[in-house]
Amino acid sequence: MEPENKFLYKHKGYYFVKGVSPESIDSLESFEIKDDDIFIITYPKSGTIWTQNIVSLILHECHRDGTENITLIDRAPWLECNIADIDYPNRPSPRLFTSHLPYYLVPKGLQNKRAKIIYVFRNPKDVLVSTYHFTKITPVRETPKDFDTFLEWFLSGKVPSSLWLDHVEGWYTHKGDFNILFLSYEEMKKDLRSSVLKICNFLGKKLSGKEVDEVVDKATFDNMKVDSRANYTFMPPDIVDCRKGDFLRKGTIGDWKNLMTVAQNERFDRVFKKRMEKLPFKFCWDIQ
Ligand code: A3P
Repeated sequence: MEPENKFLYKHKGYYFVKGVSPESIDSLESFEIKDDDIFIITYPKSGTIWTQNIVSLILHECHRDGTENITLIDRAPWLECNIADIDYPNRPSPRLFTSHLPYYLVPKGLQNKRAKIIYVFRNPKDVLVSTYHFTKITPVRETPKDFDTFLEWFLSGKVPSSLWLDHVEGWYTHKGDFNILFLSYEEMKKDLRSSVLKICNFLGKKLSGKEVDEVVDKATFDNMKVDSRANYTFMPPDIVDCRKGDFLRKGTIGDWKNLMTVAQNERFDRVFKKRMEKLPFKFCWDIQ
């Protein structure tokens, strides 16, 4: 364990916040995977909570099975940080988990390709800006003195979950080792119904047209923002303090343009663009 600062440490080449212990990370390698397990994996601020809500609504057919009052943390808990102290091995199937881990730290059993992974990614400039605002409402991350400072942390990967490029590239280039669906935040935003159907199809879950409409309706930004089971107001304030600002902040595409100056955008492109262009897939936000 290499401490970077009061909040952050590096373990096996990856930055974690202090609340996640290196022992729990190590123990995950042998975490037993069941064939019908479902994992949501993201780089932070890419639409995790949104996907947790969508998948849980799909699985529980809009909560008609008694899960109505269960928060997202209980329905789709964090693999690497069991904050609600849930008995993971004995949860009823299908078990749904959420994680920010890189491809090389997830349980080895995922490589049998039976359990399913939904990987959601988002324009890294929007991720950067969303994360910057998030630092103001979470006591578990270092608060940067200004956006310029945070930009440098993000570009050098000295943030929880390390470098965005490594996360996305790692998962994408190892996609053949897993049973994985890639979805972008942007396609979810542009056509939520198609994205819900894509997830249903991947999970082999057949919902009626009306049920799909209900999932879409409950997963819109406006409805999630006021849904106390889905908006993180249930989080302990020592992890996310919603009195200081909303976790569901804006939920838009391209908010980076409202914060980044021309010089900051150029700086971002100088560091990220070449490597992004070399990735073996096109990002939706670059396609006209
Ligand atoms: P913003 O800060 O840009 O608003 P994560 O859950 O991975 O931490 O991501 C949080 C981001 O996803 C926040 O982005 C949040 O507003 C956005 N988000 C959450 N639910 C959403 C929804 N239903 N529709 C659109 N964006 C959503």
